[in-house]
Amino acid sequence: MTLQRLQKVIAEAGIASRRKAEKMITEGRVTVDGEIVTKLGTKVETFSNITVDGEPIERESLHTYLFYKPRGVISTASDDKGRKTVVDYFSDLPYRLYPVGRLDYDTSGLLLMTNDGELANLLMHPRNKVAKVYVARIEGQLLPEESKKLARGVEFDHHKSAPAKVKVIRTDKKRNRQIVQLTIHEGHYHQVKNMFKAVNHQVEKLAREKYSFLTLDGLVSGKYRELTHEEVDRLKRVD
Ligand code: URA
Repeated sequence: MTLQRLQKVIAEAGIASRRKAEKMITEGRVTVDGEIVTKLGTKVETFSNITVDGEPIERESLHTYLFYKPRGVISTASDDKGRKTVVDYFSDLPYRLYPVGRLDYDTSGLLLMTNDGELANLLMHPRNKVAKVYVARIEGQLLPEESKKLARGVEFDHHKSAPAKVKVIRTDKKRNRQIVQLTIHEGHYHQVKNMFKAVNHQVEKLAREKYSFLTLDGLVSGKYRELTHEEVDRLKRVD
């Protein structure tokens, strides 16, 4: 739940400057969820109904969507090569959404899209260690020692990855490849591909199946759904 000072909310809605908003509050012209509020610094929730002189104020509504990103789509807002972007999928909505982090062009899977900058920053901050589950098809087969290395952390780009969870899902001996699930908390550029590369395996195909407690259940590639308030609140409690 995001709490904000009442005068800030009124000012951001473009009704008055913060100073004038404070005056409006002390003059008893402002209500929150039907009650007159005269105390300065009162905190209000994202979904509180606020009126000034009896008129409801328009607040920018915050939205977060869970998107099943297809392969072959770029995760930035625009692309100089004219390729399709994740933002293009949301062009019918009346607000502009941005991806929370990135998935590579050739990676599919779960990507959050939001206009809630505070939530995006919270989720992307390394301190918050949001768990992400990837499924990779790799060339060759992991030796037990390579699995252990991945789990302990490997070096790439002058960086040592944090401990990861490694689970072999399937081995295809005939084609000499393996499906491996990797659970990590970091989000460096090409993180998963680089981790496998550090133990001499090429990632042939990559998908993100889980982000924190969220999964792709009920969605097909290219589709999205809006998160519920409960899901957004739960994401905000990440630790
Ligand atoms: N790691 C990668 O290598 N690519 C992605 O798209 C996500 C994580």
